[in-house]
Amino acid sequence: RKLPPVYREGLHVPLLGAALQFLSDPLKMARRAQDVHGDIFTVYVLGKRLTFMCGPDAQENFCRARDDELSQQQAYKFSVPLFGPGVVYDADLEKRTEQIKFVTNSLHTTAIGQYVPMMVDEAEKYFASWGDEGVVDIYTALAELIILTASRCLMGPEIRSELHKEVSELYAILDKGCTPISFFAPYFPIPAHFRRDKARRQMVALFQKVIEKRRKENKRYNDVLQVYMDATYKNGDKLPAHEVTGLLIALLFAGQHTSSVTSSWTGLYMLDNKKDIIPKLVEEQKKVGKVIDHEAIKNMSLLHATVSEALRMQPPLIFVMREVLQDRQFKDYTIPKGDVIFLSPSLSGRRPDVWTNPDSFDPFRFLEPREEHRKFSHGWLGFGGGRHRCLGEHFAYVQIKTIWAYLLRNFEMEAVGPLPSPNYEALVVGPKHPCLIRYVRRKL
Ligand code: HEM
Repeated sequence: RKLPPVYREGLHVPLLGAALQFLSDPLKMARRAQDVHGDIFTVYVLGKRLTFMCGPDAQENFCRARDDELSQQQAYKFSVPLFGPGVVYDADLEKRTEQIKFVTNSLHTTAIGQYVPMMVDEAEKYFASWGDEGVVDIYTALAELIILTASRCLMGPEIRSELHKEVSELYAILDKGCTPISFFAPYFPIPAHFRRDKARRQMVALFQKVIEKRRKENKRYNDVLQVYMDATYKNGDKLPAHEVTGLLIALLFAGQHTSSVTSSWTGLYMLDNKKDIIPKLVEEQKKVGKVIDHEAIKNMSLLHATVSEALRMQPPLIFVMREVLQDRQFKDYTIPKGDVIFLSPSLSGRRPDVWTNPDSFDPFRFLEPREEHRKFSHGWLGFGGGRHRCLGEHFAYVQIKTIWAYLLRNFEMEAVGPLPSPNYEALVVGPKHPCLIRYVRRKL
């Protein structure tokens, strides 16, 4: 069997391998290795073999894999103390598949239609707090708005109206408990991990009370919490409170930073290309009608393409990973059992064999007649691909489009300073602060 070529350039230290290069700028290293070896190569980091698969063919090979061939469980084990016992990556495959089904049900299109008025209401309330004119850090602002919306649509009115502050503080502690160390040693005794574990217990206790109150009062709501409370495993068991809470935490982790980052880049790129794109986006808003509802959101195709283009240029998840459970064949190469495979949404978004002028911002590439994203079945990985493709994609587009539809209708905006660069030190990669924009409220 022929193994993929091993990348040995740059700083390699005995035992650590390419760890220093990898930890300081993993994308730079992957780009260089791709230039040297092509679309498949292996890097040694801390004794582990990381095998990178790049380009439409290799990505397709990865995306077609079953869970018993490529596993998420080991690759994402850092999430177990965050989501709690028996939830997602701590559950066996059968239970995990059932849980993923519950998540799919809670985020399908009809459910999302019901969340739209809530998203619009949250945006209206949030932007009412802005003055007639001013300068804001748009990344900070949108992260605040997105967690309020998540609180309302996912966790329900009780949390949104009474417990939002507590839940967002606990979420912030969980978030800080997810450090680079946690990736390699999720239970290593550091203060951030102790605080994380306490915060998760408090979160469970808080949701337990809300669940008990709903059951006692026999009240039902249109939110994700209700879907998980009502869900039943095939064996007839209901989800205990800690599993309901764990799934909600998992959704917060999957959706909060990714959506804040993508909505911020959408605005930052839009304003960086103000003259070309803003008049067309404003025109589209006039065309789709006065009310921002699910129907109007579906008709905002240029805004949709603008979000996709921001995501292509700057995906918040720069890698997705799987552990190889059985030797895997790709072209002439065998990727041995035990390797961790890395796929990169960042690299996939900038390939000249997939995209025309990949480094320029051009939303029209996503629209007819070009539709460059359709050229290959797995050419673009902004939302991942295959059986574990993002389940929140529709929710994310609706939320981001609602926010920017509201802003375009109600404010004139311009960028303050050049486009920020991406912050590769964060686990979910966003723009470096400050991300300032100047706004003036439109007189309607
Ligand atoms: C999975 C990206 C928003 C829920 C994924 C994956 C990517 C991704 C790349 C694949 C991970 C992998 O293969 O290992 C994004 C981006 C978002 C976004 C860029 C925003 C622009 C959301 C939101 C939610 C969500 C808002 C929920 C409300 C999920 C879930 C999975 C997932 C549950 C796991 C699916 C599975 O393992 O079967 N997302 N996501 N995402 N996402 Fe998203």
